Amino acid sequence: MVILRDTMIISGKELSAKLKAGMAEQVAAFPEKYGRVPHLVVILVGDDPASVSYVTGKAKASETVGIRNTTIRKSADIAESELLDLIRQLNDDDTVDGILVQLPLPEHISEARVIETISKAKDVDGFHPLNVAALWQKHPCVLPCTPKGIIKMLKAAGVEIKGKRAVVIGRSNIVGLPVAKLLLDENATVTIAHSKTVDLPAVTRQAEILVVAIGRPKFVTADMVSEGAVVIDVGVNRDPVTGKLCGDVDFAAIEPKASVITPVPGGVGPMTICCLMENAIECFLKKMER
Ligand code: GUN
Repeated sequence: MVILRDTMIISGKELSAKLKAGMAEQVAAFPEKYGRVPHLVVILVGDDPASVSYVTGKAKASETVGIRNTTIRKSADIAESELLDLIRQLNDDDTVDGILVQLPLPEHISEARVIETISKAKDVDGFHPLNVAALWQKHPCVLPCTPKGIIKMLKAAGVEIKGKRAVVIGRSNIVGLPVAKLLLDENATVTIAHSKTVDLPAVTRQAEILVVAIGRPKFVTADMVSEGAVVIDVGVNRDPVTGKLCGDVDFAAIEPKASVITPVPGGVGPMTICCLMENAIECFLKKMER
């Protein structure tokens, strides 16, 4: 018997371009309606190449959408107190609607202190403890960008989440935990697995929807995925052999088995930035309509 199936490769690049075009139209009406456009401030500490590239992507997307972007670069040896003072200054600045501090930060700076210093109303990442608490209590909140983008991709691809068995590999505050919560809210039955999960392949083979956010190149191999699974790859890694960008999923091996899969690059990454734009607009509108 020959099973013929076309795997759907979801282009986060295309979907995000479409969504950003819609946002650009929305933002174009803001100067007349509110007197100005949303203003996002991005702080980058140090010069880690991946972080520089993410921050550049955020500035480019802001330009596309028509959002004002200020990127502030600080050297890696900035004192924590100086960074916290800068954030407080931006909290008090009425012309600033969203603040994002690019992670990771140098070891001498507490990420937790930085995140909790950003005012909840300007927390476009959805990382502030009050935003996280609101998410888990099903109160209105800013949704973290990557998990929000993943749910949008699944819906755009026509994937029914309700009633599905979903497995998330990874339990970070940025992706694993919140994406599991959003899938749960869509009525999937969710298992959170991680690098220490016993017999991980047996767990992941149960997944009808598999989300991988573990940060290891080609960690998920073909034997870990069941036929017809929906596979969402959040990883952004360098292939140790070719040096090229690759995901957490061995794309070439798994693409023939999956019904739906996201590529790296061009999958989840662009959706994260797109949702950041959405969150910046959301924070702006909340302030303007107060
Ligand atoms: N580093 C990697 N992903 C993110 C993100 O979504 N937000 C911030 N602030 N830093 C990151």
